[in-house]
Amino acid sequence: MSIGNKTFAIIKPDAVAAGNAGAILSLIEQNGFKVKGLRLQHLTLKEAEGFYAVHKGKGFFDELVAFMTEAPVVLLALEKENAVQAWRDLMGATNPEKAADGTVRKLYGTNIGRNASHGSDSDENAAIELAWFFRGSEIA
Ligand code: CMP
Repeated sequence: MSIGNKTFAIIKPDAVAAGNAGAILSLIEQNGFKVKGLRLQHLTLKEAEGFYAVHKGKGFFDELVAFMTEAPVVLLALEKENAVQAWRDLMGATNPEKAADGTVRKLYGTNIGRNASHGSDSDENAAIELAWFFRGSEIA
C-alpha cells in the first residue's frame, strides 16, 4: 500500500457520544474505503495538544483541545486510491453549515468546532498523523 493510498481519520467526541460512530463507519465503507486500523481512545490533553500543535496560538486552540478530550474518539487508518482527498470530500467543509449534503459533517456535525470528523490534509501529514497514533503493527 503506497502512502498516497492512506489517510488518517478521527471520528470526534461529539459524533461518538451521540452514537453516530457506526453510521459514519458505514458511510466510510460504502464509499469504498478499507478500514486498516481502528481504535477507540479517550485522548489526554497532552495527546490532543501534540496532535494539533500546528494550531497552537490560534484563538480556537484551547476550545479545540478541550473538545477533543471531553469523550472518546475513534482513530482510523483508511485506505483508498487518493485517500487524503477522498476522505476530505466525504467529510465535507470544515464548517458543517457549509458542507455539502450527504457529507459526514453536514449529516453529523454541529458547528465549526464540533464537526464530527478530522482528516489529514496532505499525504505528508497523513504519514505523520498515522505514525502519531498507530504503531506499524496496528495497521493491517
Ligand atoms: P480539524 O480538521 O480537526 O482541524 C482543526 C480543527 O480546528 C478543525 O477541524 C475545526 O474543527 C477546529 N476549529 C475550531 N474553530 C475553528 C475555526 N474558527 N477555524 C478553523 N478551525 C476551527
